[in-house]
Amino acid sequence: MARVFVTRRLVGDGLERLTTAGHELDLWDECTPPPYATLIERAQAADALLCTLSDRIDASLLQACAHLKAVANCAVGVDNVDLAAAHAHGIPVGNTPGVLTDATADLAFALLLAAARRLPQSAQAVKDGAWGPWEPDGFLGLDVVGTTLGIVGAGRIGTAVARRAAGFDMQVLTTTSRDGTPLPELLAQSDFVSLHVPLTPQTHHLIDAEALVRMKPTAILVNTARGPIVDTQALIDALHAGTIAGAALDVTDPEPLPPDHPLLRAPNVLVLPHVGSATPRTRAAMTELAVDNVLAGLAGEPLPHPAPPPAP
Ligand code: DGY
Repeated sequence: MARVFVTRRLVGDGLERLTTAGHELDLWDECTPPPYATLIERAQAADALLCTLSDRIDASLLQACAHLKAVANCAVGVDNVDLAAAHAHGIPVGNTPGVLTDATADLAFALLLAAARRLPQSAQAVKDGAWGPWEPDGFLGLDVVGTTLGIVGAGRIGTAVARRAAGFDMQVLTTTSRDGTPLPELLAQSDFVSLHVPLTPQTHHLIDAEALVRMKPTAILVNTARGPIVDTQALIDALHAGTIAGAALDVTDPEPLPPDHPLLRAPNVLVLPHVGSATPRTRAAMTELAVDNVLAGLAGEPLPHPAPPPAP
């Protein structure tokens, strides 16, 4: 029997498979993540760690817990895990690819449409009692059909967003396909730019002041990937200056974003609380994949859903 530290209550009944397999579950049954010191302490007492993207699995933790047989991140993104340190200690790291592709692509497209057609502003006007007689130029937004969508990172989710764009007769540019468009060109040509790269040292602040200046003043930036891919201060400045027309973000830097953060005062910004994968079916499927990884790690087998190797 092995002991598994699970850092959050998870959706679905996937965790039952751990107890059915005879393992002992140490569940952090709270609505907020365990404090870092608790995370280390409980992981030290476990044989495997099932964590989420809000847990910092850094080099110190991995050194203190070098005995772990698996770190199963219940997320596709693994930027919260020091992959190089895990590799150095021989700790296998797993993630949950594939199962959240459609939910996240749906949300990226929902953000694109909401920002284009100014849904937050018009819904707020109704609540504020500012819904007057129908006006020919009231709440004018942007057309989507026939425009150009720039997809930065055409992996699983980016490709799924491109499929949705086809239904809107959009021209799609991508940075990473074989005949991909270089990023500066993609930014200059796109009416909407949607980010789908993982957060790595190479993509940190990929969208900085220089990148934002390249975009059309009528363009909208959509981010459902990771907050730090965008330089938050540069984005705030760009929105105030009208360098771009708007931003629709499911992820921010920092996260969670405090309600008094200046980003929320910038014009034409729509921010959601990192809900790309938030459907019961998707989240339950993520739990299942994470449990698959834990069970394999504890059995000394290769993880079925291994995280990408550490960046060179
Ligand atoms: C992930 O899995 O990386 C998403 O950001 C959350 O589901």
